Amino acid sequence: MTPKLKEAGIPDLKQKLLISRRLLNARSLSSFVEQVISPQKDDSENLVTNTIENLRKGSKPTKPESIKFWDRLAYGLNCPDGVKGVMLVEADLDEFIGHLPEDHRALAMGFVYKGGKANTGSDSTERQKSGDTRARGAAGVRQMRPLDLTDGRAVWLRTTGMVQTIATGFRARKIDQKQYYLDPDSATAWSTLVNTRDYPTYHQCENSLQALLATEQWHGVLDRSQPATALILAGGGAPTKDLLLLRSLLSKAYTEYLHYYLFDISFWMTKDSLEWIHKHSHNIDGFERVDLSGVYGDVLDMNEDFKTGLHRDGRVVFVITGGTIGNLSEAAFFRSLDRGADEGDILFIGAETTNGKLSEAEAKALRDKYDNPALRRFIRPVVKAVLGAAHSHEDEDNALSRIHVDLQPGIEVNASDVKESTSVIVTLDVDGREVTLATSNSVRAVRVDRVRSPIWVAGRVSGLVRTESALQAVSVYAE
Ligand SMILES: C[S@@+](CC[C@H](N)C(=O)[O-])C[C@H]1O[C@@H](n2cnc3c(N)ncnc32)[C@H](O)[C@@H]1O
Repeated sequence: MTPKLKEAGIPDLKQKLLISRRLLNARSLSSFVEQVISPQKDDSENLVTNTIENLRKGSKPTKPESIKFWDRLAYGLNCPDGVKGVMLVEADLDEFIGHLPEDHRALAMGFVYKGGKANTGSDSTERQKSGDTRARGAAGVRQMRPLDLTDGRAVWLRTTGMVQTIATGFRARKIDQKQYYLDPDSATAWSTLVNTRDYPTYHQCENSLQALLATEQWHGVLDRSQPATALILAGGGAPTKDLLLLRSLLSKAYTEYLHYYLFDISFWMTKDSLEWIHKHSHNIDGFERVDLSGVYGDVLDMNEDFKTGLHRDGRVVFVITGGTIGNLSEAAFFRSLDRGADEGDILFIGAETTNGKLSEAEAKALRDKYDNPALRRFIRPVVKAVLGAAHSHEDEDNALSRIHVDLQPGIEVNASDVKESTSVIVTLDVDGREVTLATSNSVRAVRVDRVRSPIWVAGRVSGLVRTESALQAVSVYAE
């Protein structure tokens, strides 16, 4: 006998729709409903629109016509014989998963129990809290659920890519810039640095991001792409910018759910940002619709598998803030992006700019960013490790007082791959061996008076910004 519908709202509706949409690969609620109903002869003309409206309201279907969607969903999801639409409606989240075909249940659980915590305010979460980590679906199958060990701040681990050790860097005479962020104290050291007057880049970038988010260009590019996922590249250490981005992305009517991933090589920087965002999430309207996670890995090492996972729910907006691209090989960055991005994705780059020929004062300002007590404090642990790798007994404060900060044409000194860029090069002489501690590139922007530095380069991934042409795009767009 078919169970009767009880009155009131549909339990765990949001989660049921999330699971169903992902299993059926539907981008929007309307395309999902249309796909499930696939209107037939005897259906009323308004079946699709009425269903969408009822789902939005969360009200239970009471008429035979309105239960059709759920019956067809059971069919579309390939549920076992005997699972009727009304059972999907009445089920709580665990029972709903139990009604799915066996080979889809683990996948479905992964969608909603990410990081050990369900994205639901329902009583199924309460059961989870009370220690019942196993659910019994209506099909009677006991299911394993990820352990509820944490507070849900998931960091996914990509196991490809590598970080050069300081000893190897010392032998190669160039220290991998990732080293500055691998220490447990790095997040605190970074926020101390960005809050000093000597290093204004962070707040300049934050202000220009705010300005960018108010432009028609930002909204135009975003609205054409309608991304389901935001991947913030080298994204640790900028949570106040994440707040701005999240607010803007969530303000879009098409953003029903948003994956927001901080992709970073530093666990500490990522953890610090995730915690900050959670703490301030009450200031972000619609935050309950966000799947916020860290992805631990190298942004220069995206590959096809990563691309597939990333695009599961639709297009991706890639963002790299803070002039961080200027610390990387731009060519390696765009090659990696080419492997990770797909047609129709979008890219926003915050880049430091110069207007080509620097005046004395501009050159001094650029050098001073890397030649000040706050910066020396920030690089101190790495300098100490470099001295260790060199078996030097020199005191690190003494070594820090000797660092050399120079400006060079980026391409000529192999610090940049972009034409006419200027690089700040920080070096230290260790027992007669010159070691490059850091480099930072600024691209040339002719109309720098019209674009506050750092500028934003935006584009659709196909066409304007892609591999080699992207390198030109940086200089061309800046011009
Ligand atoms: C300068 S800090 C923070 C920049 C920040 N996005 C901003 O807007 O201010 C640079 C961040 O990039 C990360 N990072 C550096 N190189 C990376 C790489 N190759 N792959 C992933 N993350 C990287 C560091 O761990 C650090 O969190």
